[in-house]
Amino acid sequence: MVDVILGLQWGDEGKGKIVDFFAKDYDLIARFQGGPNAGHTLYVGEKKIVLHQIPSGIFHEEKINLIGNGVVLDVVTLKKECASVAAFGVDVRKNLYVSERTHLILPTHRALDKASELSKGDQKIGSTLKGIGPAYMDKTGRNGLRVGDILHPNFKEQYANLKSKHQQLLDNFNFQEDISEWEKDFFDGVEFLKTLNIVNGEYFINQKIKEGKKVLAEGAQGSMLDVDFGTFPFVTSSNTISAGVCSGLGIPPQKIKDIIGITKAYCTRVGSGPFPTELLDETGDFLRNTGNEFGSTTGRPRRCGWIDLVALQFACMINGVTKIVMTKTDILDALTELKVCDKYIVDGVEKSEIPFQMNHADIKASYRIFDGWNMDSSTITSFDNMPDTMKNYIQYINNFLNVPVKYISNGPGREQIVCS
Ligand code: GDP
Ligand code: IMO
Ligand code: MG
Repeated sequence: MVDVILGLQWGDEGKGKIVDFFAKDYDLIARFQGGPNAGHTLYVGEKKIVLHQIPSGIFHEEKINLIGNGVVLDVVTLKKECASVAAFGVDVRKNLYVSERTHLILPTHRALDKASELSKGDQKIGSTLKGIGPAYMDKTGRNGLRVGDILHPNFKEQYANLKSKHQQLLDNFNFQEDISEWEKDFFDGVEFLKTLNIVNGEYFINQKIKEGKKVLAEGAQGSMLDVDFGTFPFVTSSNTISAGVCSGLGIPPQKIKDIIGITKAYCTRVGSGPFPTELLDETGDFLRNTGNEFGSTTGRPRRCGWIDLVALQFACMINGVTKIVMTKTDILDALTELKVCDKYIVDGVEKSEIPFQMNHADIKASYRIFDGWNMDSSTITSFDNMPDTMKNYIQYINNFLNVPVKYISNGPGREQIVCS
C-alpha cells in the first residue's frame, strides 16, 4: 500500500515537516521526482535541517528511505547531505537506498542550466540552477547517465562522451566557465555513492509492498510547477503530481491509496511566472517576513499572496487528492482580514478554470473576504477548540474543494499539527 504526500501550490508548502510527521506510520519513504532543486525543512528536536535529495523520513530509525528512479541525483549534494544527517547519528548505509535507474546530474548540466537561463534575458524561468532541466532533457533525449552506470568499467568514457556533447551546446551559448572544481567534486561524489546501497528500485519497492509494508511517496516542488500541468514554461522539468509516483518509483497505480495534498493557508512562489493572487504591498511583505518566506535552497525571497482556490481545485482534480493538510495557519494570526481567491477574471470574463497560457492572459483574482482569527493559533490543540473565525475559513476551503482539510499545521515543529 502506498500513500502520497505532495505540494498543491508552487512548492515550499511544508512537505518536509509533514512527511517527517507522518513517517512514523510507514516503513519506507521514497522520493519519486525532482532533485536538489527541492529544499525540505524539518526539525530534529530544536535543530533545523534542510534536505535536498534524501527523503524526509531519514530521521526515523528503522525506516527505509529510497531515492527513486524518477529523481535526478546530484552526487555532490548527496555526499554533503549524508554527512550532515550522519552528524545526527543517522546511519545512511543502513537506511538509505538509491535506485540504479536514477539519472545523474553532471557538472555540465549545471553549466547548461546557467547558460540557458542567461540566454533567456527577462524571460528566465528563475531556475534554482541545479541542472534539473538539462538532466531531465538528457533522460528524455536518451543520453543521460544513471546511477547504475557508475559501476560499469567504462563510466569515465561515457561521462567524457556526454560532456563533449554538452560542450558543443555550451559553445553555442558562448558560455565559458571553469568546471574543473565541480568535476573533481563530482567524481568524489561518485566514489561516495558506490559505498551506499544501490538497488533495483522497482523490485525493491514492489517486494516491500508485497510483504505488506507501508510506503509513503514524498513529492518535491508543487502541482503548479508540474511540467505538463503547471504554469508552463515557468515550471520544473518533472511530473510533480500523483501520476509521477508510478513512473518515478515503478509501482502500479492500484497500489496507491491516500493522496495527501499540502497547501499553505496562503500562497507563495519563488522564481518567475504567473501568480494571480500575488501581493506586492505591505501585506505581501508581512507574509514574507512573518512566514520567513525565503527559499530553502537558494535563499531567494519568496513572492507571497492569498490562497488561490482556483489553482487548488485544479491541483485536487489532477492529483485525486483525498485529504488536505493546511500549513502555516499561525502566520495569519495577526491579520484582521483574510482573502480567499475563488474565481479568476480572465480578460474581463469570470472563470473558475485555469487558463491554458496564464502568462498571456490578463488574470485578476476575485476574492471572498473572511475575518481573521486574531489569536495565537499555535496554542490550538484540536479542531474543537479552534475559534469560529478559523473554522469558517477552513470550512469554506473544505467545501469549495470538496476534499476534507484533515490537518492544520500551526508551527514548524514536528508535533505542531492538529488533526480533525
Ligand atoms: P517544503 O519544500 O514543502 O518542504 O517546504 P520548505 O521547507 O521549503 O518551506 C516551508 C517552511 O515553513 C520551512 O521553513 C518550515 O520549517 C516552515 N513550516 C512548515 N510548516 C509550518 C507551520 O505550520 N508554521 C510555521 N510557522 N512554519 C512552518
Ligand atoms: P520544494 O520541493 C519552490 C522552482 C524554481 C523555478 C522553477 C524551475 O522545496 O518545494 P528548476 O530548478 O526546477 O529548473 O526551477 O521551479 N522550484 C521550486 N520552487 N520549491 C521547490 O522545491 C522548487 N523547485 C523548483 O524556483 O521557478
Ligand atoms: Mg522547499
